Amino acid sequence: MNLPKGTKDMLPQEAYKWQYIEKTAREISALFNVKEIRTPTFEHTEVFLRGVGETTDIVNKEMYTFLDKGERSITLKPEGTAGVARAFVENGLYSSALPQKLYYITSCFRYERPQAGRLREFHQYGVEFLGSDKPDIDAEAIILAKTLFDKLGVSGLTLYINSIGCKNCRAEYEKALKEYLNKNIDGLCELCKDRLVKNPLRIFDCKNLDCKKIVKNAPKILDYICEDCSTHFAKVKSLLEKAGVEYKVDAEIVRGLDYYTKTVFEFVSTNIGAQGTVCGGGRYDKLIEELGGPNTPGIGFAMGIERLILLMESVGVGFGEQDLVKVYIAGMGDEEKDLAFTLANSLRVKGIKAEVDHMGRGIKAQFKYADKIGAKLVAVIGSDEMANGVIKVKNMEDGNEQTVKVSEFIEYVARA
Ligand code: HAM
Repeated sequence: MNLPKGTKDMLPQEAYKWQYIEKTAREISALFNVKEIRTPTFEHTEVFLRGVGETTDIVNKEMYTFLDKGERSITLKPEGTAGVARAFVENGLYSSALPQKLYYITSCFRYERPQAGRLREFHQYGVEFLGSDKPDIDAEAIILAKTLFDKLGVSGLTLYINSIGCKNCRAEYEKALKEYLNKNIDGLCELCKDRLVKNPLRIFDCKNLDCKKIVKNAPKILDYICEDCSTHFAKVKSLLEKAGVEYKVDAEIVRGLDYYTKTVFEFVSTNIGAQGTVCGGGRYDKLIEELGGPNTPGIGFAMGIERLILLMESVGVGFGEQDLVKVYIAGMGDEEKDLAFTLANSLRVKGIKAEVDHMGRGIKAQFKYADKIGAKLVAVIGSDEMANGVIKVKNMEDGNEQTVKVSEFIEYVARA
């Protein structure tokens, strides 16, 4: 039996890296007063059709969708935003104090061709700020992402930003885009010909080289945005500058999801191969309405945790200390092992990490095992020690050996 393609086991020697990233993400979220939200792993398919958009690659090609035993169409979440927006509407969070600043750490599922940094089950740390249309909160979302990268010691990322306008200026732009594409229609792939009719902006997602060439010279949305969007974008940029966050404007970023309006952004690395976008996000002022709620603007982003780990490994930053065992208590025979067992439990009650033999090993083999698990101290209870009410404790870091009374052992380990 083996793993389904595009999934991964997280063994203990990997899992501690995740714990470190998750802990750091939670700490940074708290600094920005962002609270955790947990939504289900699956939703009614409709949530993503209406949220992410029917003409996107995610919805068209990549969703894990199935009928459950009650004949309902269910989809494993391909991303976090639509589910959070559904929960915001369903739980009436729009009536609470706004903005609602929310974060999540979740599995996501996309049926994509697996490669380095691209999986079918992957994980996102994401943030959604709901209720404010002010550019300050766009800048704050971007600064939050940057603060987390800095805290994790990640360097070499480029922040690209763009504005893709609102409902009003988008119509004007789509007209110009359609005009241009119609002139070049013969060079477009079949899917793009369809996109041209249904949702021309999605042509920017096409991987076909001929389409890419045509798109390269297409009109840019940034040249079409209205005064309101332009002022909004200028303010986001100036706040980033004030915060010392470097960015590049990239008029070609449109993002692969339909809900975006105005600000969009991506943090991209050139160190981890073709899948270099570690974080992507943007504003979505119509999504809550689309899902049946009152007119409520929003902005957010998500980072792929697998890509973040690849990046951290590539720049050689650490993942915090692995939490090792403080003391291993080796016992010679049954009686000694019983004492080791009891002492280990007393240590754990005091919050000290302790381990004993569970494999019927002899003393030598227990020592070897203690070394393998990186125990700081190894305590030995042989028959002589048992008879004299003492324990020999070896400090594995400096080789120092001490004989300690059983009655003083817990105190000794606590201080060591
Ligand atoms: P997204 O760009 O589709 O945006 O994904 C965000 C991040 O998830 C990507 O930058 C990447 O790091 C990671 N990611 C995506 N697909 C995969 C995959 N197959 N394997 C590994 N990592 C992957 C969203 O999901 C939006 N919901 C972000 C957002 C939140 N926008 C507003 N709020």
